[in-house]
Amino acid sequence: MYPSDGSQGRQLMILEGSVEQTLAQLPKEQKFQLIYCDPPFYSRKVQVADRAAFSDRWPSLDEYLQSMAATVRAMAVRVAPNGYFALHCDHHASHYLKVMGDRIFGYENFRNEIVWHYKGRRQPAVQRVNSKHDVILVWARSSLSRMAPLAEEVNREAYIKMKRKRVFTDENGREWIWGHNGRGRSHAYRIFIDDVVKRGLPIDDVWDIPIIGITSKERLGFPTQKPLALLLRLVELLTSPGDWIADFMAGSGTLGEAGLKLNCNVVLGDRNAEAIRVMKMRLEGYVDQLRLESAD
Ligand SMILES: C[S@@+](CC[C@H](N)C(=O)[O-])C[C@H]1O[C@@H](n2cnc3c(N)ncnc32)[C@H](O)[C@@H]1O
Repeated sequence: MYPSDGSQGRQLMILEGSVEQTLAQLPKEQKFQLIYCDPPFYSRKVQVADRAAFSDRWPSLDEYLQSMAATVRAMAVRVAPNGYFALHCDHHASHYLKVMGDRIFGYENFRNEIVWHYKGRRQPAVQRVNSKHDVILVWARSSLSRMAPLAEEVNREAYIKMKRKRVFTDENGREWIWGHNGRGRSHAYRIFIDDVVKRGLPIDDVWDIPIIGITSKERLGFPTQKPLALLLRLVELLTSPGDWIADFMAGSGTLGEAGLKLNCNVVLGDRNAEAIRVMKMRLEGYVDQLRLESAD
């Protein structure tokens, strides 16, 4: 439970019910370092896959946004003072949801619009070009929230190509380029290329991560299942081992798997009985303590 009970992580609680029902089951003082929310996107379709389906049909955009605002407000009070709220959405409503979230968390607490870019089948443009990204809007609960300084691998050739600068070699045979420190200070310090390759490059807000392939073992037959690699990176960025994290619209439980792999404690919920069945099956092997409860 939050505040920490000294546990080392890998506890899991799965609750069946709406977000409001699930929250009502948790102790009032329980807060989370990260609440991830991957709701219906206002696609105006019924989302169907082999093992489950859920409706994303709404009478109007206004009703969708009213429902989202009530749900996000209920979750917001459960984010720890140094925690984060991450809202996964796409072009159908992302711009409206950004404004909605700013009203709840405060404009000054908005941290990132993470673009998850993926490849897939493309059609020639007629009225619009292919949409190949989702966004994850991230708000901090306050100025106390801190991210982990994640870096991604880069090799010598890719780094040199990206920098497009002259490469020098020093007296010890180490390659370096000039680093610059603002306008007019382009020869401010040396960047040693072997250091960059060793450390990696700090990540930015565009994440190229493949979607789950049709024949991938990761695919569980749940509609709109997100790749584990995407949520591993998000959890690693926003939490530390032993933290409590939650996803109250958890679908197949991808956030749960990411959290347990990174030694977090996890609360998952969903109002769809099939989702609960799929996530239970998925996560059984991971945990030391599995609590299955039903909110009604
Ligand atoms: C986009 S899916 C989540 C997919 C998930 N991130 C994954 O990787 O499998 C959205 C889920 O939200 C659930 N849901 C929608 N509205 C809900 C609500 N008000 N309370 C609880 N669950 C809800 C749906 O049943 C569905 O499983």
